[in-house]
Amino acid sequence: MQKLLAANWKMYKTREQAESWARSMIQALPPQGLSGRSVLVFPPATAIAAVAQVFSGHPSLSVGGQNFYPGTEGAFTGEISVEMLRDAGAQWVLAGHSERRHIMGEADALVAQKVLFALEHGLRVMLCIGETLEEREAGKLTEVLERQLGAVFSAAGKLDAASLAGRFAVAYEPVWAIGTGKVAGTAEVAEAHAVVRRLLESFAGESRIPVLYGGSVKPANAGAIVHLDNVDGLLVGGASLDPQSFLQIVSA
Ligand code: 13P
Repeated sequence: MQKLLAANWKMYKTREQAESWARSMIQALPPQGLSGRSVLVFPPATAIAAVAQVFSGHPSLSVGGQNFYPGTEGAFTGEISVEMLRDAGAQWVLAGHSERRHIMGEADALVAQKVLFALEHGLRVMLCIGETLEEREAGKLTEVLERQLGAVFSAAGKLDAASLAGRFAVAYEPVWAIGTGKVAGTAEVAEAHAVVRRLLESFAGESRIPVLYGGSVKPANAGAIVHLDNVDGLLVGGASLDPQSFLQIVSA
């Protein structure tokens, strides 16, 4: 399976900064595309169009939205629709990121609703899941991942291997490793990814759904993680903001 290297910029970068980052990427990558790797960037909504325009036509580069509201249009002040994201050039969207679950209070049911809505409306979805430190220390890793994935698959019913092919990815991001500098050890990553793989097989009958790791990924640890069994890519926050640092991760 191709490795997918994804950058989540969170609430960083103006349009100008985003465009300059995207140009650095275009200059550094071969115009005919990367072999065995692809790059996906989640800019803030205001910079999606700028990045998509620079990336346009490049075979290895795509753009996604960090968030949206699951409705076609309407009186939802401050929200953005999947159609608006697509119009700006997004092909992907994130759902269930731990910052949305824990800071914005998004519950499993809303995350599931968003995943289904985006898929039905033609966007690819990267579903983020992961346990808190408290949950891990209480031995609840499998229980939490099963609950988070189960919410999506039980709400869906009709989500199966065929309907998800090429349109769905999972990012395992332990909450305690996000933005803390505390990267999960390779044994911990391998253990959790094996659990996610097994759960995906039981929920979707599918073993080819890409499963990415995220949480304090840096150039120094990216290589050790990305080549582990059941790791199909990386979702990078802080270390993706500098294009040179992200390029090192892309080639790790
Ligand atoms: P950091 O790489 O900054 O820990 O963030 C990870 C993340 O949340 C990516 O979605």
